[in-house]
Amino acid sequence: MKFFIDTANLEQIKEMQALGIIDGVTTNPTLLAKEGAEPIEQLRKICQVVDGPVSGEVIGLTTEEMINEARELSKIAPNIVVKIPFTKNGIKAVKILEPEGIKTNVTLVFSQNQVLIAAKAGASYISPFIGRLMDNGQNEIDMLWESMEILNAYDFKSELIVASIRNTRHVIESAKMGAHIATIPFNVLEKMFKHPNTDQGLEAFLKDWEKLQGELKK
Ligand code: E4P
Repeated sequence: MKFFIDTANLEQIKEMQALGIIDGVTTNPTLLAKEGAEPIEQLRKICQVVDGPVSGEVIGLTTEEMINEARELSKIAPNIVVKIPFTKNGIKAVKILEPEGIKTNVTLVFSQNQVLIAAKAGASYISPFIGRLMDNGQNEIDMLWESMEILNAYDFKSELIVASIRNTRHVIESAKMGAHIATIPFNVLEKMFKHPNTDQGLEAFLKDWEKLQGELKK
């Protein structure tokens, strides 16, 4: 399973990248706005740090606007993936961009039907937003299982990026069903590293080791 980091913050990306566990990055207009930097420049900096796919999103709503923006975004670096919102115009744009060699990530996906349509359109990546489904009281895990079932039942090239991850359990559930990718926020990645028993166990081992050294010196 590949781990992407869901942030536009360079420090967070560098910190997780240094651990060797990051395969790519996803951003969106909100995440880029948080950084306050010029978005194209920020995406360029991210692409310099990470070799894997880096998603940047289009803002236009017509197919033509999306295509023009996607072509501009794709000039930033070879690893740029263009996020296209799931709309009829977006699906038309995916059908045009993918044969041009511009990789697309269909975003704002909330249903199995949308997954199926994005896969048929030939999207490289499809991003169901499971946290937002959970916030609406919908069963986000069932939605993912069925989405994976659909993708596995046919020869679609699309990879599923589990997005809008809220907690560490979301990552485990994604891994259990063989989701291709999880795009994980920094705070959730931090939590995945932590377990109180690891800290307590390490402290006890070091204390016993010191005790032994003291006894050996006697
Ligand atoms: C991923 O591609 C999305 O940008 C992101 O996961 C959205 O997450 P949110 O629902 O926490 O804003």
